[in-house]
Amino acid sequence: MTEIELLIDFHKDAERQGPGSTADTLKALSFIDLPRGKPLKVADIGCGTGAQTLTLARQIAGHITAVDLFPEFLDQLNRRAQELGVQNKITTLQKSMDDLSFSTKEFDIIWSEGAIYIMGFAAGIHQWKPFLKPGGYLAVSEITWLTNTRPAEIEAHWNREYPEIDTAAGKMKVLEEQGFSPVGYFILPPASWIENYYRPMEARFEAFLERHKHSEPAKTQVEADRDEIEKYKRFKDYFGYGFYVAKKMPGV
Ligand SMILES: C[S@@+](CC[C@H](N)C(=O)[O-])C[C@H]1O[C@@H](n2cnc3c(N)ncnc32)[C@H](O)[C@@H]1O
Repeated sequence: MTEIELLIDFHKDAERQGPGSTADTLKALSFIDLPRGKPLKVADIGCGTGAQTLTLARQIAGHITAVDLFPEFLDQLNRRAQELGVQNKITTLQKSMDDLSFSTKEFDIIWSEGAIYIMGFAAGIHQWKPFLKPGGYLAVSEITWLTNTRPAEIEAHWNREYPEIDTAAGKMKVLEEQGFSPVGYFILPPASWIENYYRPMEARFEAFLERHKHSEPAKTQVEADRDEIEKYKRFKDYFGYGFYVAKKMPGV
């Protein structure tokens, strides 16, 4: 199995593939001021198995196009949508987030939890912006420094892994430079990482290793995940996911 196949195998049965919670999704949604009378068109980019897609589907009148690169995740999302009876509100689309062919001004909302980093925050906003109607909203969670200075170890780690990491002020500047007006920001609480993401991951490690007969690539993956969990627990006062909700201003 390739590294990617192992990753998919490890994550496909999980409820979510990144930190978050139903409460976080609802809180971000609460900043969006759009007429609820008419059906909304929403894109959820990097949806994974769709924890947030399903929350949105239950909350809004309208339709969600849920995009992910991996069909295994989209299959799970479709199965869950059926179980919850919201399948008519969701269309899944297997496509890369940097190769989307939506129409100009197609969506009222573009949503993306824990995924815009794959393209990079600025590049993602730049490429997705045309798909939003003027007055439409972008709602994205993004790795963010929570303090202006931090220990050298974690600074070096994130500068290596994701040099675009910045403080909330830096991220809002990027949004403003691209014609968005930030309307809401909050930090995901540690429970959204530990209880909703890391603890379920830890519970899957052993079965994953056994399924792959403790192969070296499987062990390497688990070690990397354990290291990530340990870093989060040690340095969670310095970094986290910021949730940014911003309105596309007219004339952009
Ligand atoms: C950290 S996970 C977040 C998933 C989900 N939004 C959540 O919060 O549970 C990132 C997601 O982006 C997807 N992804 C990775 N590369 C992608 C690409 N080039 N285009 C679209 N989706 C991609 C992964 O399959 C994964 O589901």
